[in-house]
Amino acid sequence: MFKIYVTKNIPKEGLELLKDKCDIEVNNLGRSLSKQELLEKIKNKDACITQLTDKVDIDFFEAAKNLKIIANYAVGFDNIDLNEATKRKIFVTNTPDVLTQATAELAWALLFACARGIPQADKFTREGNYKGWDLYLFLGLDISHKTLGIIGAGRIGQAFAKMSKGFDMNILYTANSKKIDFEAQTNAKFVDLETLLKESDFVSIHTPLTPQTYHLIGKKELSLMKKTAILINTSRGAVIDEKALAESLENRQIYAAGLDVYEKEPIIEEKLKTLDNVVLLPHIGSATYKTRIDMSILAAQNILDFLEGKIPRTLVNKDILKT
Ligand code: DGY
Repeated sequence: MFKIYVTKNIPKEGLELLKDKCDIEVNNLGRSLSKQELLEKIKNKDACITQLTDKVDIDFFEAAKNLKIIANYAVGFDNIDLNEATKRKIFVTNTPDVLTQATAELAWALLFACARGIPQADKFTREGNYKGWDLYLFLGLDISHKTLGIIGAGRIGQAFAKMSKGFDMNILYTANSKKIDFEAQTNAKFVDLETLLKESDFVSIHTPLTPQTYHLIGKKELSLMKKTAILINTSRGAVIDEKALAESLENRQIYAAGLDVYEKEPIIEEKLKTLDNVVLLPHIGSATYKTRIDMSILAAQNILDFLEGKIPRTLVNKDILKT
């Protein structure tokens, strides 16, 4: 029987689709496996459902000699050495679309939290400091009618921008290419990064992590932003130079930042934790009950497609089809 290893217990809905056709082994330890444990487990497996925390590198491929398909339980796949997978004719799939709305919604939650000081106001209230209405309590920034800058107008970036409709915002975006439909739907304007950083009130990052986007936002880029600007990141931490961001926030060069992702997860730059103008979340962009189930189903459907001799529906390394 086709052998699958699942590196962390995922919602049962996906596994149920596979159970009659495959021999499934799941890591039920409630923690990630060490590298050594993982390499041991994937020996002789035909498929693996991985998490974004699993490093799928040369060692992984060397250990998994029978591997045919990796279904990554995430839309991002920077944890996987894609070239190596393609070279070895191993299919790699991800979970796009099903987590688009959830992630875009979390980016908005971060923007509201930063603009209106929600976490600080909650803490203040819980700690018994609320003594009655005061006109100067927790003044924040307006969101409506401002300029929203989207770095990376893919699925999530576009969804985030479309959600601004009720706030009547001006939208700027950067991307690899102009997005004609997106522009028609939102009046968004395609600009270069420098213009976007200079003119936006709120900048939200939605680009995948690649060698080209590593530290895309560093000291120089942060210095271009408005003093009243808010920076949101729900994509991958290393798109921002975290040290430079901490400095910029400490020096009040920008107003605030809302982060769901970090350069070296789960480690977070110490200085960030001491600042009151940053909201820190533990990488929960796609963490809704329904999305987690849908991600599980999509990961399983990709493996079923492969078993049925079809092209997995959300194949990432499409170059494999040319070889
Ligand atoms: C992804 O799918 O890449 C997200 O970061 C997980 O929430």
